[in-house]
Amino acid sequence: MITIALSKGRIFEETLPLLAAAGIVPAEDPESSRKLIIGTSRPDTRIIIVRASDVPTYVQYGAADLGVAGKDVLVEHGGEGLYQPLDLEIARCRMMVAVRGDFDYAGAVQSGARLRVATKYVQTAREHFAAKRMHVDLIKLYGSMELAPLVGLAEAIVDVVSSGNTLRANGLVPVEEIDAISARLIVNQAALKLKHAELQGILDTVRAAVAGRRGAS
Ligand code: ATP
Ligand code: PRP
Repeated sequence: MITIALSKGRIFEETLPLLAAAGIVPAEDPESSRKLIIGTSRPDTRIIIVRASDVPTYVQYGAADLGVAGKDVLVEHGGEGLYQPLDLEIARCRMMVAVRGDFDYAGAVQSGARLRVATKYVQTAREHFAAKRMHVDLIKLYGSMELAPLVGLAEAIVDVVSSGNTLRANGLVPVEEIDAISARLIVNQAALKLKHAELQGILDTVRAAVAGRRGAS
């Protein structure tokens, strides 16, 4: 049995065409079904539905053989026990520092002010500000980071930005790009040895589908 860990929403939807190339079509839609284990058109393959930030954990411990996770999530997880053979070039966004439109970020950086930074990406933020030799107080949040500067919880946030609509709607502006983000296929290192033929087959087909799509765009 091959088990693939996916999160609902954009990762599930954008991974579907790539799995279809390997003949893997889910039997149910996780948005309407409450099931967490979903069969597929291939009797030897099932999909488990987990939180986006939990995907690396399921794959690390071998509860799933394969998974799809954003680079943002993988940096926070650390990547232990994971093989990351393929950038799927889906769920693209950018990891950014953002502040209120009326906040002088450049001035604060220059004067060496100690900033409060709210984020769910604590590891990413810690590395970014350490590289800039900036002293910051990191405040861990689990979502809606854009609110923090509006109510005085923090001066800055670190979050993913795609269209920029969420920042704009809340009067925030991006001031620094930390990283370009996309989702990666991740594989349990032990499973890749034990189930080599099956997993390599899926990997090769998905890799070809990603390359084919790149060629078509
Ligand atoms: P969790 O449920 O664990 O809190 P989440 O809410 O961040 O995670 P999703 O919103 O489904 O989960 O995002 C999954 C991945 O898609 C993220 O890890 C990131 O790599 C990417 N992503 C997040 N927001 C966007 C966006 N607005 N546009 C494109 N990709 C995004
Ligand atoms: C993410 C992120 C931002 C937003 C950025 O949230 O935390 O809030 O997307 O996207 P934008 O630049 O296109 O506005 P979430 O996963 O909730 O996004 P969603 O609203 O698309 O689900």
